[in-house]
Amino acid sequence: MTIHIGAEKADIAPTVLMPGDPYRAKWAAETFLTDTRCINQVRGMLGFTGTWNGHPVTIQGSGMGMPSLSIYANELIKDFDAQTLIRIGSCGGMQKHVGIRDVILAMTASTLSTPSRGIFKELNFAPCADYGLLAAAHAASKSKGVPTHVGGIYSSDVFYDERPDLNEQMVRHGILGVEMEAAELYNLAARHGRRALAVLTVSDHLITHEALPAEDREKSFGDMVEIALQAAFAPAG
Ligand code: HPA
Repeated sequence: MTIHIGAEKADIAPTVLMPGDPYRAKWAAETFLTDTRCINQVRGMLGFTGTWNGHPVTIQGSGMGMPSLSIYANELIKDFDAQTLIRIGSCGGMQKHVGIRDVILAMTASTLSTPSRGIFKELNFAPCADYGLLAAAHAASKSKGVPTHVGGIYSSDVFYDERPDLNEQMVRHGILGVEMEAAELYNLAARHGRRALAVLTVSDHLITHEALPAEDREKSFGDMVEIALQAAFAPAG
């Protein structure tokens, strides 16, 4: 048990999928895992463990933003020994060629600050995804026929952004999309020698101002869960 995860060590699998929304964790676990059981309810940040194709998997909500994700990822890594952590979430598209519903695999994540800033101080550390996970997720996504983009994303601290100039620079530098968690997940994975990846669906668009219709959200989220599971258990390439 930790402060934020009320589970025994044996309740958490080495592979953890992390949606921001705890109810998405519940839906994904009930839809894709078998022998599913709820392993965390502390603060309503639901977590579930079950089996996928014979492999144990935990799906634990991370909450929104890097301070929240950092709490769960730190405890999963340090107290529960999670080895593979995959964020599954939504992002805002930042390039015209990136469409609503497309999948973005975040190779790296730029950010103004993360909870790790106190360590890096003046250093601009470049957080990056695990290449094996990234390559396997790319193969899984392509085989599902989902339009997929691989590249840099922007992990922002705010949803309601008052700095349009920063978004403009991100767009100008080819950043594919904006979300609020991946950079810190990658920092923590690097620090502790774990594998991490963010698989994102474009749910809204900062340039075209389109948004994913509510009825399409479940299908898009399901695609991400399957891509993440296939990547996590892909044979080492
Ligand atoms: N900004 C930040 N986070 C997001 C967005 C966005 O537009 N869309 C989905 N997550």
